[in-house]
Amino acid sequence: MTNQVAVIGAGIMGAGIAQTCAVAGLRVTMIDVAQAALERGLLSIDNSLERLVARQKLTAVQKTEALARIQATTDYAALAGAQLVIEAATENLDVKLRILRQLATLVVKDTIIATNTSSISITQLAAVVPVPERVIGMHFFNPVPVMALVELIRGLQTSDETHARALAFAQQIGKTPISVRNSPGFAVNRILCPMINEAIFALQEGLATAEDIDNGMKLGCGHPIGPLALADLVGLDTLLAVLEVLYEGFNDPKYRPAPLLKEMVAAGYLGRKSGRGFYVHS
Ligand code: CAA
Ligand code: NAD
Repeated sequence: MTNQVAVIGAGIMGAGIAQTCAVAGLRVTMIDVAQAALERGLLSIDNSLERLVARQKLTAVQKTEALARIQATTDYAALAGAQLVIEAATENLDVKLRILRQLATLVVKDTIIATNTSSISITQLAAVVPVPERVIGMHFFNPVPVMALVELIRGLQTSDETHARALAFAQQIGKTPISVRNSPGFAVNRILCPMINEAIFALQEGLATAEDIDNGMKLGCGHPIGPLALADLVGLDTLLAVLEVLYEGFNDPKYRPAPLLKEMVAAGYLGRKSGRGFYVHS
């Protein structure tokens, strides 16, 4: 059983993973480079737990206990003792390589190093760690407290034991794992992100309004939210990073990111996290 984890990154995903682990009874160290990001992360965890209390899925006492299990810090040394480290920082190869090199000097024997990357090669990330057999992709979905899936991605070096331990951990915190071979975007994002990209091309071409495109996919295909609203939920910078990995990784023009997406990221319109994306968010 895992009882102590460290999560690197306190953004949309890091906060969601930390919350889910804490609610499952684990002690969590959440690390970010920015104190402001830690504060935002803790606030979003508080809000999300409050929502669960309001819907009677959690008691007020369970909320307080879960929050008390989370330690938020900018000090990487605080991750010593974690049986599992989950890297959930910005979707950028250089950022992740730097973090993984740093982790290698801090973790103890047997610690599993998981990355929540949405698209980047697990094999490439594992190659900078002295114990690559202990590195695995553990891809959660947004919002983490709600979405049941975890994609487990084995790099070329990932050992059977690491895979088995990651699988047991996913089940321990109430998630349903699927196992996927290492490949750009893995399974779900390879299918999902081109669909969202196509919706952005449609908007760019003036095919319909954002609202009508989203309503089309909600009412016509039963999606819980439309693709443009989903882009805002994910973060347009993250979506663009995933599409670029798919485009370069497969060297196939069908993954070309929509110019409107690039333009919006350049403008700082990143979706919910910046207050503006395809929609305006309060
Ligand atoms: N924390 C806790 N609970 C939350 C929550 C959060 N952050 N967000 C939503 N919920 C809960 C609500 O409390 C509510 O609970 P009940 O069913 O008990 O009422 C339930 O989820 C539904 O929420 P809402 O009624 O507020 O809103 P909704 O019906 O629109 O659902 C949603 C919100 C679950 C996000 C839904 O819109 C949805 O499923 N959207 C699609 C999400 C999706 O596709 N995620 C994958 C993104 S891609 C990805 O993650 C991979 C990547 O690498 C980019
Ligand atoms: P985000 O932009 O919300 O947060 C990223 C956080 O990482 C920021 O708080 C930033 O300060 C922090 N960070 C940057 N460099 C760091 C470092 N060296 N050490 C510690 N923290 C650092 O991003 P996000 O949406 O939470 O995405 C995080 C990861 O999860 C990415 O790899 C992304 O692809 C993946 N992911 C995202 C989603 C999604 O829907 N947003 C879904 C699944 C997976």
